[in-house]
Amino acid sequence: MDSHIIWENDKLLLLDQRQLPFKKIYVECCSIYDVAKAIKDMVVRGAPAIGVAAAYGFVLGKINGIDDETIYNILINTRPTAVNLEWALQRCLNQYKDYGDLLELAKKIHEEDISINKQIGKNGKELINNGENILTHCNAGALATGGYGTALGVIRAAFEEGKRIHVYVDETRPYLQGARLTAYELMEDGIDCTLICDNMAGYLMRLGKIDKVIVGADRIASNGDTANKIGTYSIAVLAMHHRIPFYVAAPISTFDMSINDGSFIKIEERAPYEVREVFGTKIATDETKVFNPSFDVTPHYLISGFITEKGVICPPYGNFILEKFNI
Ligand code: MRU
Repeated sequence: MDSHIIWENDKLLLLDQRQLPFKKIYVECCSIYDVAKAIKDMVVRGAPAIGVAAAYGFVLGKINGIDDETIYNILINTRPTAVNLEWALQRCLNQYKDYGDLLELAKKIHEEDISINKQIGKNGKELINNGENILTHCNAGALATGGYGTALGVIRAAFEEGKRIHVYVDETRPYLQGARLTAYELMEDGIDCTLICDNMAGYLMRLGKIDKVIVGADRIASNGDTANKIGTYSIAVLAMHHRIPFYVAAPISTFDMSINDGSFIKIEERAPYEVREVFGTKIATDETKVFNPSFDVTPHYLISGFITEKGVICPPYGNFILEKFNI
C-alpha cells in the first residue's frame, strides 16, 4: 500500500484517514500547527503513526522558527493516551543535536518503525497456525504506524509465509477504524476478512469461530495493563471466558515503564458528536447525553502475551518486562 506519511519539499503530506476507504486525499501540512491539527482531528491516527507525524511536526516547528519547548507543548497536547507521541518528541529533543539534522532523525524514526513492525510480524507469525480465524479490533495496521502494522503486521507476516488465515474485523464504533481502515487494508493485500459489528464478537466466540485475538496498544504500563481502543477490554474478557488466546502486538516504545499500572493512563474523551453521528449522519438528537472515552485499559491478567520486536513476552509481566528488554 502507498505510504500514508510523506515528507516532500519541506511539507508533510498525510493521507486523510477520515476519508478512507472511499477517497484517497492527502492533507498538506506546511506548519507545526497543521500537523497538530491533523493529529487532533484524526487525519493521522494510531499510536506509532502519531509519533512519526509528530517527529516531522518537530521539523516543521524548527523551520517555523519556534523554540523546542513550545514545539513540544504544541504537539504533546494533541492526544493524551498514546505514549509513542511523547516518546518521539523526547527523542527529537534529546537526540537531534547529536544527529545534527532533525529531518534525518524524523526519517530515521519513520524507517525504524517500519522495520520494527516487520520484526514484530516475524516474531508473531509463529503463534498463528494454518487455517486459523483471528479477531482484531480497531486498526493496528500500516495506516496506524510508519508502515506494515503491529497486529496487522503479525497477520501480514503469517499470510506472506503462505498460512491460510481469515480475519474477523470489529467495526470499532464510534470512529469505525475497523470497518473503514482495517477491512480496507486487508482487502488491498488480498487477506480474507469478514467485517462484524462490535457486539457480535461474543456470539462468534461461542460458535467456535475465533481461534485467536490480536490487537495493538497505545500505552502499556510496567505491569502489562494495556490501553487500546475502546472495546478492547470487553473482547479480552470474552476471550478469557471462551479460553481464546488474546495477544497484544506493540513495539517496545509503547511500554511506559514510568507507571506501575493502568490506573495511571490518561484516557482521552472525544466529542459527543462522534457517538451521535455515523459518518456525518445523525443517529441521535443533539440533546442526547453521550460518554465517549476513546480507549479502555485491559488488565494484564487477561493478556496471553505481548508480541514485540524483541520477542514474545508471556506472563508473569512486571519486572520481567524490565529485565527481558533492558528498559
Ligand atoms: O484513536 P486511534 O485510531 O488513534 O486509536 C488507535 C488504536 O487504538 C490502535 O489500536 C493503537 O494505536 C495501536 S496502532 C498500532
